[in-house]
Amino acid sequence: MQFEFSANSLGKISTDAVLVFALKERKEVKFLTDLKSFEKKTQETLLKAIKTASFKAKRGETLNFYLEEDSLAKAIVVLGLGERNDFVADDLRRAAGALAKKLHHKIASVALEIPDGKEITLSQKDSAQLIAEGLILGSYEFNKYKTEKGERDLSTVIISGAKSASVKEGIERGKVYTEATILARDLVNEQAAVATPTYLANLAEDIAKKDKKHLKCKILNKEEARKLGMEAFLGIAKASETEPKFIVLEYTPDKSLNSEKLALVGKGITFDSGGINVKTGDGMIDMKCDMSGAAVVLGVFSVISRIKPGFKVLGVVAATPNMISGKSLVPGDVVKAINGKTIEILNTDAEGRVTMADSLSFAVKEKATKIIDFATLTGAVMIALGTDITGLFSNNQDLAREIKDAAFAAGEKMWELPLEKDYKELNKSEVADIANIPNTRYGGTITAALFLEEFIANKPWAHLDIAGPAFISKSNDLGPKGGTGHGVRTVLNLLS
Ligand code: BES
Ligand code: ZN
Ligand code: ZN
Repeated sequence: MQFEFSANSLGKISTDAVLVFALKERKEVKFLTDLKSFEKKTQETLLKAIKTASFKAKRGETLNFYLEEDSLAKAIVVLGLGERNDFVADDLRRAAGALAKKLHHKIASVALEIPDGKEITLSQKDSAQLIAEGLILGSYEFNKYKTEKGERDLSTVIISGAKSASVKEGIERGKVYTEATILARDLVNEQAAVATPTYLANLAEDIAKKDKKHLKCKILNKEEARKLGMEAFLGIAKASETEPKFIVLEYTPDKSLNSEKLALVGKGITFDSGGINVKTGDGMIDMKCDMSGAAVVLGVFSVISRIKPGFKVLGVVAATPNMISGKSLVPGDVVKAINGKTIEILNTDAEGRVTMADSLSFAVKEKATKIIDFATLTGAVMIALGTDITGLFSNNQDLAREIKDAAFAAGEKMWELPLEKDYKELNKSEVADIANIPNTRYGGTITAALFLEEFIANKPWAHLDIAGPAFISKSNDLGPKGGTGHGVRTVLNLLS
């Protein structure tokens, strides 16, 4: 999607549609776009159309009408942002997304003014970023396997008004954020036969090659992982003929602002069949999504050189499918993670935590000072929070606060759940240090988080169980059914 700037007012731009933003205030429609930008005649038609259609500027409400042959713009679309008092930044992002989704393939260009801080408490830079994110993400689709593609693409956005550095910056930021999000989406949506551990590893190497000065990539194969003692990861991997890969990315800034080294650890199960404890057909259908955590890490690293955090960042992914075969782990088997802790496998479908026992321990070994992990870890998190909200766990309240603020600004819903100490004993094993499933099905997202906590050596850590929002079964304003890239924009906010 191309963003162009025009000094002309909206009425003087040749485009398929002009976008007008409106809020609802005490049953009145309040425009964020200056109607004086249009000719008298157009203004009148617009106001009349609002009345006729009893348009109220409710959240998500749109009103389209076509202009006469002689006008430069072919149509005007009024976009409702909802009740003024309830307005939050994400409403603008979602409204732009919903619009792009609707108009993609129907029109090729839109023109708009970036709302300023007069009516909404947003800087023009932030508004510009939100609109760019919405328009780009809303028109996202994964169509590489469709033989028939849409005819026209919404490919040009014309920003009307005096060219300002802050609007440009906002757009650029929106582009970076969505590029990373889309990389993550594409990875999640890709079939498991293509998005293998080797594919993810090659991508990580390609990312690192683009900025040799700041990025390093190291890929461990099975033998190298074995030498490091990654029995837990390799235990899950051994059922599959697909080569497992342990992926490490490292970003070093030009000048470190502090001694921090933030580790981003992503669950990288390229397909989760459940293993010997095989899933049902319905339960397996979306399981190419089980590397969504890895996709967050790769998405973030793909743009990290443009975000330029002032501290070190480590990316870690233990990538393997979880398959069923004669070589699978079976219940009762015991494996040892690189931190020396032994794990009794009681259910091969609780594989993510087993692979992450090694990837988290590895981050500790690499002297991470802070760890954030992303994992489609449990179905239970969806029982607790529904499909849209990530379960956030942390042993450090400052880190939890930071993540919540970053997530709110990114429009990614997260809710903190407790690392309840009294539940630790639920993960007890009779034969090993810990069991990979608890002895109750209640609180399954918490017991899974408590399992991971055994492998972070008390470092400041946050765990994001993204099983709900990472892969959606119904489209939303910011994209279609499938991978969402949820988590990417939160991390980019944290790194900024
Ligand atoms: N990958 C799944 C969790 C999942 C479920 C992600 C649905 C996305 C959508 C995970 O490996 C798993 O199978 N977890 C089990 C754990 C159980 C065996 C303790 C689950 O949640 O049922
Ligand atoms: Zn599983
Ligand atoms: Zn899984």
